[in-house]
Amino acid sequence: MVLSQPKPIESEVETSDSLTAINQRPRRLRRTAALRRLVRETQLTIDDLIYPMFLREGEGIRESIPSMPGTDRYSLDLLLEELAEVSRLGINAIALFPLIPNEQKDNAGTESYNPEGLVPRAVRAIKSQYPELLIFTDIALDPYSSAGHDGIVEDGIILNDETVEVLVKQALCQAEAGADFVSPSDMMDGRVGAIRQGLDAAGYTQVGILAYSAKYASAYYGPFRDALDSAPQFGDKKTYQMDPANTREALKEVNLDVSEGADLVMVKPALAYMDIICQIKQTTNLPVVAYNVSGEYAMIKAAAERGWIDESAVVLETLTSMKRAGADLILTYFAKQLALAWKS
Ligand code: PBG
Repeated sequence: MVLSQPKPIESEVETSDSLTAINQRPRRLRRTAALRRLVRETQLTIDDLIYPMFLREGEGIRESIPSMPGTDRYSLDLLLEELAEVSRLGINAIALFPLIPNEQKDNAGTESYNPEGLVPRAVRAIKSQYPELLIFTDIALDPYSSAGHDGIVEDGIILNDETVEVLVKQALCQAEAGADFVSPSDMMDGRVGAIRQGLDAAGYTQVGILAYSAKYASAYYGPFRDALDSAPQFGDKKTYQMDPANTREALKEVNLDVSEGADLVMVKPALAYMDIICQIKQTTNLPVVAYNVSGEYAMIKAAAERGWIDESAVVLETLTSMKRAGADLILTYFAKQLALAWKS
């Protein structure tokens, strides 16, 4: 008996419509929920998520951020309480962002490497209570800068090499406090290499670097700057963050960061830069991280508040798309909300 072989698509076009119909029924694999799960190509899980959290001075404070509904700023005591739930929900990693009082800000971001500063104090407290929870700390001067810039300012220019020296001190201070990863988000040239050398020389060979490699000068960061009161006091960030129109430059930045010793490379923002995520995935074998930034979060929240979209479905679709585009990990303010939904 001769078994009939499915015909290649080319020949089917020339044969009858009915044969095409027999061989080409993609809907067969969509028929039931179990089947769809069986053939699903991308799985978004809690293990993929890093939860960014906002921290401030004081006690007993948990305050909302108007442009980021559902995301709060915590004093350390309440952050520690909140982390009990966060870790119980299975979230493995957080990223910390501090609101620094104005009187502690200066042009050189001196407070960024104060060993008794808000971030190192928080890291020590979190690590002693939740040793398993991975902590990513941010490296950049903007929360500490009186000018609201990521580097030292002189005559309206953001100085590069002078800033990198401060960033290295900041990284050492956070590593000493117990951060698992330091995350340079400043876009100064050469900072990943300088931080790696500084960490290694001080014996912190196990502290990793999450490099914000392709960070664009984006309008999607607005709500985050509200959260940290860190908007630039003059000009914009276009002399250090990348032009949204560029692709090759992102690949160049990734190559540099990889050669300088990055462990993880990031694309930021995510949603308007899916093509960049996809291309970077093809140029590096390091894990690729996407930052689902504050503006992306705020847009979904705002539309959902008006009842214009189904929030939980849109969140799942958006984050799954980021993974499909090539992101291995995602920083997202939706992490806890998703974890709660998955638990229930
Ligand atoms: C600054 C920093 C920014 C974000 C993370 N780190 C803002 C900026 O570059 O002005 C934005 C995150 C978000 O919008 O969610 N170093």
